[in-house]
Amino acid sequence: MEKLVVTGPTQLKGEVVISGAKNAAVALLPATLLIDGVCTIENLPNISDIQISCKILEELGAKITWNSQHSITIDTTNIVTTKAPLDLTSKFRASYYVIGAMLGRMGEIEVGMPGGCKLGARPIDQHIKGFERLGATVSLEKGTIYAKAKKLKGTSIYMDIVSVGATINVMLAAVLAKGTTIIDNAAKEPHIVDVANFLNTMGADIRGAGTDVIKINGVEKLHGGATYSVVPDQIEAGTFMLAAVATRGDLLLKNCITKHLESITAKIIEVGGNVEDNGDSIRVWCNKRPSKANIKTLPYPGFPTDLQPQMGVVLSLANGTSTINESIWDSRFQYTDELNKMGAKITAQGKNAFFEGVKKLHGAPVYSTDLRAGAALVVAGTTAEGVTEIYNLQHIDRGYENIEEKFRKIGAKIERVKE
Ligand code: EPU
Repeated sequence: MEKLVVTGPTQLKGEVVISGAKNAAVALLPATLLIDGVCTIENLPNISDIQISCKILEELGAKITWNSQHSITIDTTNIVTTKAPLDLTSKFRASYYVIGAMLGRMGEIEVGMPGGCKLGARPIDQHIKGFERLGATVSLEKGTIYAKAKKLKGTSIYMDIVSVGATINVMLAAVLAKGTTIIDNAAKEPHIVDVANFLNTMGADIRGAGTDVIKINGVEKLHGGATYSVVPDQIEAGTFMLAAVATRGDLLLKNCITKHLESITAKIIEVGGNVEDNGDSIRVWCNKRPSKANIKTLPYPGFPTDLQPQMGVVLSLANGTSTINESIWDSRFQYTDELNKMGAKITAQGKNAFFEGVKKLHGAPVYSTDLRAGAALVVAGTTAEGVTEIYNLQHIDRGYENIEEKFRKIGAKIERVKE
């Protein structure tokens, strides 16, 4: 078993180069299944979700060549099976994107129910509704999803809930459908725009991604031959922005799109931090104790749920009592028990948590309960006095490339230790 050992407190200072976005990359890879040809994807984050996505593609028949740690060339000319490997697809959430892509390309797919972080109920009814509206039949038996269609036909689909996954999945299915599909009440996250841009580069006709109405004019075929670079990771950038505030440090984050960081920037300024927006880089520094704030997580462009635990660390150390209302997931406050072991004073009740700010945290053995909880514990460890041991690293490794190295470069005393 591995653990991260963090010795604090440290003020984080220096530069971090932000990686490509996990939640875009895990959709772009299955999207290549729609292409009858070869394409290259660059700026891929080197994380375990990407390794598993590649293995799934290979089992379906894709040929993958690694050009470097962050670039792959994928040849999806020959798809050899419509059964996705159940053991791999159950390992993470985004494996469900093979459904939309394979329905579009092959008209058929058999895949295990997706896994991923346990954040409460994670139904996929909106995905299924979209596929059925396009003309597919979908059934669920003993944890396996079977989806089939003779030829998908464009239609209008109103999403009852703003869902990142359902928006992308239905968009994938609609790209090669006959006629026009309109997705209403679509999610607007940067990774949705990235997937649409990628598909358009390969010959798709998708308009309106990034707004709540997406129009997809079906095309006969997607061609390969292009190189595409994954959008910078909004959540990794936000994690380091909040780490700068929590440790009263000074960080320059390179390779980011600051427009995607506006809701985080606004909250950092509200708690007394400073932000310098340079367009493709952002500097965040803080030289006083953060002040209290109230947060409500919302779909983009609201404050992202995936930065809620990291913001929770800042509010644990703030002057006064703050609240967070988590409006996306039912169970995203498990990390508060771990922060309380480090001296935080947080009371979580259902979808709300109350943070009575303390002056400092102290080290303790803690458990990463999900991906972003793990990142929050790393941030908490750098602010805390003494030694913090973080367990369950498999969650963190799913979504953060080389987390200890990136934190070490900006001054954290952090080691990965095998027990
Ligand atoms: N929902 C439904 N029915 C559906 C789909 C979603 O009721 O068919 C509900 C969910 O239960 C949730 C809400 O709608 O309450 C939003 O879920 P969404 O579908 O947007 O989430 P997701 O696609 O499963 C992605 C990210 C998550 C991130 C959410 C919200 C990926 C692979 N995952 O999940 O990222 O929290 O959007 O922004 O893109 C993470 O990176 O740590 C992470 C959990």
